[in-house]
Amino acid sequence: MKRPFVIAIDGPAASGKGTLARRLAAAYGLTHLDTGLSYRAVAHVLLRHGLPLENASAAETAARQLDLSGLDRATLSTHEVGEAASKIAVMPGVRRALVEKQREFANTLPGAVLDGRDIGTVVCPDADVKLYVTAAARVRAERRFREILAGGGEAEYAEILADIERRDARDMGRADSPLKPAADAHLLDTSQMDIETAFLASKKLIDEAFAAKNKT
Ligand code: C5P
Repeated sequence: MKRPFVIAIDGPAASGKGTLARRLAAAYGLTHLDTGLSYRAVAHVLLRHGLPLENASAAETAARQLDLSGLDRATLSTHEVGEAASKIAVMPGVRRALVEKQREFANTLPGAVLDGRDIGTVVCPDADVKLYVTAAARVRAERRFREILAGGGEAEYAEILADIERRDARDMGRADSPLKPAADAHLLDTSQMDIETAFLASKKLIDEAFAAKNKT
């Protein structure tokens, strides 16, 4: 029987992994799951009901009830929701419930691209290809800063950099599923690379894995 083809992409906030994941999914005809949105959706339920973010039992219930097909990027992409998401993401019960749903998504034919923080290490340890996309914190802050200005918004570069550094520390320092490259991940540092170059470099690695899999 054919097995789904799975591409796991991990990396810190604003590393470009989301854009890369979407482009790769389109190029290979795979589905795409931004797993960050699932943590954001759980945080959003608590915020909407005025519940404290430390309420683990409410967060776990929201995680168990979450439907991955109904995630609304527009509502969930705010800075406030992102900060709240990284706080509820330390809770093992929340992670267990979401990881189970994410694995189900990945295990559906023809396969999927999942991006997040623990895809190669925890969610899909047997993924066909694992990428760890990163960039220096100041480069990521600069990209986010320009994005906000281009969209007509206002921002302080120093604040964005401080946010990114705080989020990195929380995501890399937590006890359950910290952000780190899987031992067999390909590292892609995009500090001096545009998205097209990152896409082409990833495509080369994936084509090799694809050919190897079709031989077996
Ligand atoms: O990627 P995004 O900024 O949307 O993720 C929001 C937060 O969700 C991250 O800072 C991280 O704490 C958490 N997250 C996680 N595991 C994932 C994806 C996101 O812990 N696989």
